[in-house]
Amino acid sequence: MSRNMAWTGFLATVLILVTLVLAVIREPAIQARAAETQLIASVTEGMDIYLENCVVCHGAAGEGLGSYPSLALVSDMDAETLYKTIERGRFNTQMAAYGVNEGGILGDAQIDSLVSLIQNVNWRTVYTRAEALDVLPPQLVAAPVSEETLVQVSALADGTALADGLELYAANCVSCHGPNLEGSSIAPTLNTDVIRQTDGFELARIIEQGVPGTLMAGWSNALTSEEISALVQLLQRWDEVQNMGVAVPVVEVPPIDMSPEIIASGARLFNITCTSCHGTGGYGTVMAPALNNSLFLTTTSDTQIHQIIAMGVPGTIMPAWSSRLSDTEINALIAYMRSWEADAPIITQAR
Ligand code: HEC
Ligand code: HEC
Ligand code: HEC
Repeated sequence: MSRNMAWTGFLATVLILVTLVLAVIREPAIQARAAETQLIASVTEGMDIYLENCVVCHGAAGEGLGSYPSLALVSDMDAETLYKTIERGRFNTQMAAYGVNEGGILGDAQIDSLVSLIQNVNWRTVYTRAEALDVLPPQLVAAPVSEETLVQVSALADGTALADGLELYAANCVSCHGPNLEGSSIAPTLNTDVIRQTDGFELARIIEQGVPGTLMAGWSNALTSEEISALVQLLQRWDEVQNMGVAVPVVEVPPIDMSPEIIASGARLFNITCTSCHGTGGYGTVMAPALNNSLFLTTTSDTQIHQIIAMGVPGTIMPAWSSRLSDTEINALIAYMRSWEADAPIITQAR
């Protein structure tokens, strides 16, 4: 072997070593960049799936609407728990099983994307995208308690909690329990001595956990313990508040207007909030029955449809919309559904 060849051999070895060392140094950076690209793709896909399927309950900013939980608060939940919750749902709650293996509509990769989304996303991005796509869920439309009333109630002993309770009641409870806590056809009165004398812990427990199998949802996912104790105070001291002439304002129900503009706005709302389950044009999906269905439309009155939409169907994934849709909006939905009636398909088989 000549010296020259040995020298070249040595140089080549050094070169290979240097290249290897450089590759070893650069590899994690390349991998990190690839992982980042992958993550962005996955979160972006998750965002679209979310806006199609989850936004009506969990909100455009993941904040949780009505009694539904916030997803913005579970970003540190482990991936497996998140995956299983989405795949299998939560037994006996309105959280349905979305995995195809469980009769739902999402494949493994899609659920993985939702998990990436929940763990990584900045929810403001989701909100912005929802806004851009015009799929913001309708916001809560309760008539606000007037400033004057709040000042009046605050003047009572420990009045701040009472005023808070009044606002929370107006936002979350009035649709079922009525403006004077007197109850309605679907929920009992809360304006009784029995309720006022019930132990505060017991009332808080009922509000937190709800009454399973009834329209009374558990609010622990949506309200803090301070908020629940403000509500308890309001229930226990409602007689004092009522003696001041205070009642919670409610939105009035206008008669159904079938004008083309109303039907068009109902159609738009239906496309945002109902098609994910009931299908485009109301023809039904594996998640929920057809509403564009002659039998259903001819046998169900406006008032009954109104009640079902507002209160949901307990024990199923049909959400209660009363805390999210105004009566006007619900009536627009009914007008849209009525516009199908003349030529709705006759569906005879059991759904
Ligand atoms: C019809 C309303 C509804 C829809 C639509 C819905 N969820 Fe839920 N979700 C719930 C309820 C109610 C709970 C709380 C269940 C419980 O009490 O454990 C929940 C809980 C969750 C949780 C666990 C939160 C926690 O604090 O433990 C995750 C994660 C979740 N949902 C993700 C999703 C995703 C992703 C979608 C869309 C594919 C979705 N949900 C669609 C109602 C809904
Ligand atoms: C979707 C309708 C609905 C909403 C909204 C609702 N409730 Fe109820 N609530 C009910 C029904 C129905 C019952 C009766 C459950 C049963 O059969 O035991 C009930 C029962 C109760 C009870 C127990 C009454 C008793 O006599 O034992 C309390 C307390 C209560 N609700 C408080 C609240 C508060 C506070 C809110 C708002 C955060 C609220 N509810 C929101 C429907 C509702
Ligand atoms: C998360 C899925 C989901 C969403 C979103 C949803 N629904 Fe439903 N809906 C259901 C299910 C499931 C049923 C069937 C409940 C049952 O078994 O009785 C149902 C039932 C109904 C019924 C009664 C149908 C009948 O044949 O008795 C009406 C009316 C209805 N939904 C209207 C709406 C409207 C309007 C919207 C949009 C504002 C909507 N739903 C959004 C799941 C959903």
